[in-house]
Amino acid sequence: MTKTKSVAGSAAIVLAAGLGTRMESDVPKVLHGLAGRPMIAHLMASLAEAGVGRAVVVVGPGPGAEAVAEAVAPHTTAVQAEQLGTGDAVLAAKGALADFSGDVLILNGDAPLITPETMERVLAARRSAPHPGLVVLGFRTDAPGAYGRLITGADGALEAIVEAGDASPDELAVDLCNSGVMAVDGERLFGLLQRLGNDNAKGEYYLTDIVALGRADGLASAVVEGAPSELMGINSRAELAAAEAVAQDRLRQRAMAGGATLLDPRTVYLGFDTRLGRDVTVGPHVVFGPGVEVGDGAEILAFSHLEGAHVGAGVRVGPFARLRPGARIAAEAHIGNFVEIKNASVEAGAKINHLTYVGDARVGAGANVGAGTITCNYDGIDKHFTDIGAGAFIGSNTALVAPVRIGDGAMIGAGSVITKDVAADALAVTRSDQKEIDGAAARFRQRQAKGGGAPKRKPKKRPKAKRGG
Ligand code: UD1
Ligand code: MG
Repeated sequence: MTKTKSVAGSAAIVLAAGLGTRMESDVPKVLHGLAGRPMIAHLMASLAEAGVGRAVVVVGPGPGAEAVAEAVAPHTTAVQAEQLGTGDAVLAAKGALADFSGDVLILNGDAPLITPETMERVLAARRSAPHPGLVVLGFRTDAPGAYGRLITGADGALEAIVEAGDASPDELAVDLCNSGVMAVDGERLFGLLQRLGNDNAKGEYYLTDIVALGRADGLASAVVEGAPSELMGINSRAELAAAEAVAQDRLRQRAMAGGATLLDPRTVYLGFDTRLGRDVTVGPHVVFGPGVEVGDGAEILAFSHLEGAHVGAGVRVGPFARLRPGARIAAEAHIGNFVEIKNASVEAGAKINHLTYVGDARVGAGANVGAGTITCNYDGIDKHFTDIGAGAFIGSNTALVAPVRIGDGAMIGAGSVITKDVAADALAVTRSDQKEIDGAAARFRQRQAKGGGAPKRKPKKRPKAKRGG
């Protein structure tokens, strides 16, 4: 995301005390993942990017509160004892902001796609002429459904927000809706909230009522409009999937704008922090989990899966490769099909091209690891390290039983099980000797042609019974 200028003197209150019942989940809704991190982490990151340095997350008293607190640290949480409505939820943050009088940006924890730019636009509107005390982020939709309606006057000023359940038919016809995001003068916010009533369709304390309440006191409100795709809320798994699609699309656009070619963007899944260099090419059906960095000019071929991996410049990975956390692939190395690398550094120009597992290891520069090689890193209790020297050649189908070191330039004969260190430039082989039986294959074929069957054994001669003498 692009860097925006800082908005000093503002704090955020993020509402996340709702039960999220429709997720049918034991995990708090705001901790469900989006592009590889909890949805609320997206909001916290966007706040930071918008220069909002301080945030209070309002949580329920349930068992998930601690996990949410952990996810939003170092920001604080405030507990809303009972879910009495959005107005009551914002009020729960009063104590945490007792020393604060700047602008307060209120956000819904389950609407994490809002961009830093939009946050900044809302805050900027609060500070510009005609200096409204309250700015609501609205959006237009053909299907306003259950959203609160923004009721504006002839001058465009916001007069009230009417919840769908309390709206008249005329009000329901309004297509300008409340996103749930607002910026409020911090000097006025809590005073207004304390005066809210709950005499409405839901019997809740509506945050939205502070618009009309403020207006009666001479506090003007204004509307800033945003894109519905940024403001969608997540209440179900289906909406989570829809939000993921939006997040992925943004990440793909960002990757391509940064100079990466995605051959079929819709099939490439990116992590929130995926970094692709210039002239990186990504084939179809590639998945990037969190923590992946790919250097300039690298090629990630189809059906590869990368997570927590660093891929150097000019490296070729895949097709069908798996890079797990701690894989560090240096420049110009090749990682081929059905190769899995975990917690291992593959140094410059090394080649591991087929059907191999390398875990807890170093593969030295220019080494060649043959097809079917396995670093046997786990003995059932502990993990052990395999060190392969520069320029070493590991023959196909080798088992390297860790801990073990293969010296620089050493060769391992195919099919070996290596349990002892091998010196530099030595050849080690553990295969059993090869036998050869002259003509045996031809004899076998002749027998098959005659009707097959195992070769007839000559009946063993019974030792003749000794005649009694
Ligand atoms: C709210 C708005 C509505 C707006 C919509 C946008 C009110 C009264 N209505 O309606 O105008 O169009 O959001 O999505 O504000 N929450 C708490 N504690 C509570 C109740 C809610 O923390 O006691 C949190 C929820 O976790 C959620 C947010 O507040 O993150 C919004 O609550 P929700 O119940 O979804 O409000 P809506 O009825 O959708
Ligand atoms: Mg809602």
